[in-house]
Amino acid sequence: MTIELSFSLNGTPQTCRIPPERILVDLLRDELGVTGPKVGCSVGVCGACSVLVDGTLMTGCILPALFVQGKSVTTVEGLARDGELSPLQQAFIAHGGFQCGICTPGQLLASTALLAENPNPTRDEIEHYMMGNLCRCTGYAGIVASIEAAAAAGAR
Ligand code: FES
Ligand code: FES
Repeated sequence: MTIELSFSLNGTPQTCRIPPERILVDLLRDELGVTGPKVGCSVGVCGACSVLVDGTLMTGCILPALFVQGKSVTTVEGLARDGELSPLQQAFIAHGGFQCGICTPGQLLASTALLAENPNPTRDEIEHYMMGNLCRCTGYAGIVASIEAAAAAGAR
């Protein structure tokens, strides 16, 4: 059995037929070719698969794809505007916010959600909010510095 799923993916309407048990990150990566969301733990604890659903940060590895029926999904591929990286993406480059880059799409989506909720977070607030996004390269100082710099520059 398959069910029709319609949603917006990075601003583009998508319609596909999927089995009801399809998980969102598998749909994105394996069927729609959107590979920004990574699969790390597959159990909702590492944040590598983070996406925004109607602006809310969610973990795509434990989210049934049907949850996004009629909703808007943003992955890292959708953060740039008119060919220009978002202020947070630029800050991650300028302030050493990544090393191997595997966790970076999730870090960027989490920090995008953070600054949308709280445009001027303290360092403690940044560290607390970002706890759900693990970095195996242990580059947390650069990630926090990047978010602080983006916030100071007025990124939303
Ligand atoms: Fe989804 Fe780790 S892969 S939270
Ligand atoms: Fe390598 Fe975070 S930059 S896992």
